[in-house]
Amino acid sequence: MSVRAIVLAAGKGTRMKSARPKILHELCGRPLLWYVVRSLRAAGIGEILVVASPDLDGMLGEFGVRSVVQPEPLGTGHAVAVALQALDERPGGRVVVAYGDMPLVRDEIFRSAIASLQEEGGSALAVVTARMPFASNFGRVIRGAGGVERIVEVRDATPEELAVDELNAGIYAFDEGALREAVSSLRPDNAQGEYYLTDTIGHVVRSGRRVVPVEAGDYRHVLGINDRVELARARAEMNERICARHMRDGVTIVDPNTTYLEPELSIGRDTVIYPNTTIGRLSEIGERCTIGPNARLSNARLGDGVTVRESVVSDAKIGDGASVGPFAHVRGDAALGAGVRIGNFVEVKSSQLERDVKVAHLSYLGDACVGERANIGAGTITCNYDGRVKNRTTIGKDAFIGSNSSLVAPVTIGEGALTGASSVVTKDVPAGGRVAGNPAKPLPPKR
Ligand code: UD1
Ligand code: MG
Repeated sequence: MSVRAIVLAAGKGTRMKSARPKILHELCGRPLLWYVVRSLRAAGIGEILVVASPDLDGMLGEFGVRSVVQPEPLGTGHAVAVALQALDERPGGRVVVAYGDMPLVRDEIFRSAIASLQEEGGSALAVVTARMPFASNFGRVIRGAGGVERIVEVRDATPEELAVDELNAGIYAFDEGALREAVSSLRPDNAQGEYYLTDTIGHVVRSGRRVVPVEAGDYRHVLGINDRVELARARAEMNERICARHMRDGVTIVDPNTTYLEPELSIGRDTVIYPNTTIGRLSEIGERCTIGPNARLSNARLGDGVTVRESVVSDAKIGDGASVGPFAHVRGDAALGAGVRIGNFVEVKSSQLERDVKVAHLSYLGDACVGERANIGAGTITCNYDGRVKNRTTIGKDAFIGSNSSLVAPVTIGEGALTGASSVVTKDVPAGGRVAGNPAKPLPPKR
């Protein structure tokens, strides 16, 4: 049986007071729409059509879904009509309708809406409902003898209807034929002058078919996001879920309230995350790592037993047992081998450091290749930029770079070579060579 989904995302989102379309606002590092699409896919729905506003046109590429533009937001019912025109007719098919601003909806809710529609013979529609412990502007669900009779929007409701505490979550599973028929009958005869999708319910009931209510377990999961206060609340809920998942998988998170994790991370067992830590997109953390406090990682791939304290790591790969920080910055396609030690006030940019290299204090390594076990003294700077282009520095294995050396790139320091403290190295140093001074010159042989 064919199950397709229509995701409505063409509303104005005016309450966000933003130049950015609402569904592209981020929650834990991903756009709101991304979560809805993920849950639909997890519920086994592969074909997803997003109804987009004209300003979203061409901006949905990253989601891997089809989209259709609703030229004007004339209401949720009109949005579905636009979508149905773009979908080929499949008699006997099912269509799930959801809203693009509901990132907390779990796939189970979509599954149970579809299942309820199948189980209840003669039903044409399943509507997800929720009970909320506070007054809300959600549509009120009015039940009748055979199920849901209609849904009344707050602005159209009588005082008695307003008092109903069962609310329309905004998630529906339709029999496709019934949906097509009901949508074509919609009229904008209500307080907002809109085509309401919710009016399809009355139509279905009048045609003698049943509308099945499906109660959502936790009302918080079906809260849509309309303004930035709700965005912040949803972020907290989503972050709690993400942290809980990792904790159950064996990660210690000392304070989930101040640990900000992207939804798709992999983090190995017995890793400990200290407070005020953010781990962003594309990161992968091995086992037994120590991250934070006060660390920010994005696109960071860490092996096992890595320590990153009070530091920023982006676009970097860090080998087993390496340590970074406190107060270091590793970025721009940096690769640190196993056992590398990056100490305080060190920046490493677009550089490869082989195993057991030590850069313990106050240094800048940019566009450099450093061989294993080299020791980079405090205050060493690769002078990689000559005002026009970036140049490379190569340091051989077991080299010893004296404190406060300036390595003026392009330059190569050979294996096991040494630079004296405060050297300004402008010429290559051969393997085993020893230089010092400004500009650095060979030292007399050791006696
Ligand atoms: C809607 C429901 C209400 C439900 C609530 C749950 C209707 C008439 N009412 O109200 O019963 O309790 O959601 O959140 O459906 N959209 C379009 N095109 C349009 C209008 C809206 O794509 O022309 C999209 C919006 O981007 C949004 C969704 O549809 O994602 C819901 O629209 P919104 O205006 O927020 O409806 P509500 O008033 O919240
Ligand atoms: Mg809404």
